[in-house]
Amino acid sequence: MEKLIAPSVLAADFGNLQRDIEMVNDSKADWFHIDIMDGVFVPNISFGMPVLKSIVQHAKKTVDVHLMIVDPDRYIETFADLGANILTVHYEACTHLHRTIQAIKAAGMKAGVALNPHTPIAVLEDIIHDLDLVCIMSVNPGFGGQSFIENTYKKVQQLKNLIEFNNASTLIEIDGGVTDQNANKLVEVGADVLVAGSFVFKSETPIETIENLKTIVN
Ligand code: DX5
Ligand code: ZN
Repeated sequence: MEKLIAPSVLAADFGNLQRDIEMVNDSKADWFHIDIMDGVFVPNISFGMPVLKSIVQHAKKTVDVHLMIVDPDRYIETFADLGANILTVHYEACTHLHRTIQAIKAAGMKAGVALNPHTPIAVLEDIIHDLDLVCIMSVNPGFGGQSFIENTYKKVQQLKNLIEFNNASTLIEIDGGVTDQNANKLVEVGADVLVAGSFVFKSETPIETIENLKTIVN
């Protein structure tokens, strides 16, 4: 399968949001990755519904929403109405994860689960069949621009084994500290989707940076 690049809008220039969205539209990127933070599950607040609504108005590619919020069940319908195509919740934020995943699918979206760096892959053994995507956090969630955690490679391999063992078709997404230095190794060990925030948006030539990442992984 073709490997995908998902620029994280968290690193965009919010004073020029439409310009940055159009840049992603015009690039070889595959998805928009949208980080929603509540200041409770993570020690930072990003942006909420009105900003997401504006992003979706201009975005011409798949909208991949990563919820870093407590009790995400409260907002599943809202994110579906706003136009999210994929909705990812954190394992650590869901008491009844199976129910949450079914609710996301019933609302017409693909369902993902994100794991914090300290959370073992094994917690997904009994739900992997139901997941369209697993997002392995390669930094502690809450901020862009952090350094990649090397233990991630091992987790990607473990997850790949779990998916294959179960004949599941779950995509493996990596989120945090992705650059041209780790992209190749990540896909070699099994990653399907690479999220990249700072590396894309802080680049002088983001269109070329995206194209370069896309070439490295395919
Ligand atoms: C972190 C977010 C990431 C972040 C990635 O909590 O989930 O999506 O935007 O940013 P970089 O690529 O700068 O680490
Ligand atoms: Zn994210």
